[in-house]
Amino acid sequence: MRFLVLMSLLAVATSASAAGDPKAGKLLHDERCVSCHVEKFGGDGSKIYTRSPRLINNKTALAQRVAMCAAMTGAKWFPEEEADVVAYLNQQFYKFK
Ligand code: HEC
Repeated sequence: MRFLVLMSLLAVATSASAAGDPKAGKLLHDERCVSCHVEKFGGDGSKIYTRSPRLINNKTALAQRVAMCAAMTGAKWFPEEEADVVAYLNQQFYKFK
């Protein structure tokens, strides 16, 4: 019974975030990623995403960078959670199509 509940929760979570959920992504990002960017770039750390020239110039590169940084922080995010963070960063800062 418990197992079934868990599986259905998982199914809901997965379908909701197939394209990435920016709101969930913001929470994950604020928890794991902001402090170091603030330390290095000051302010709220978001300058790292809007500086010129910036490192990331398309959505694939953004996804790769998020996966790399997540691995570096030991966050152990699921691919869905990485997609949420990509969705958040893209909506808020990068605005790639
Ligand atoms: C230990 C410090 C640190 C942590 C933790 C960290 N970052 Fe970074 N991040 C950096 C630094 C430093 C750079 C700039 C690298 C450069 O200029 O070569 C960077 C660059 C980036 C960029 C590229 C910015 C651009 O130029 O477009 C992205 C995207 C990014 N980080 C995402 C993340 C995400 C997502 C997380 C959390 C999973 C994260 N970072 C955690 C230090 C960190």
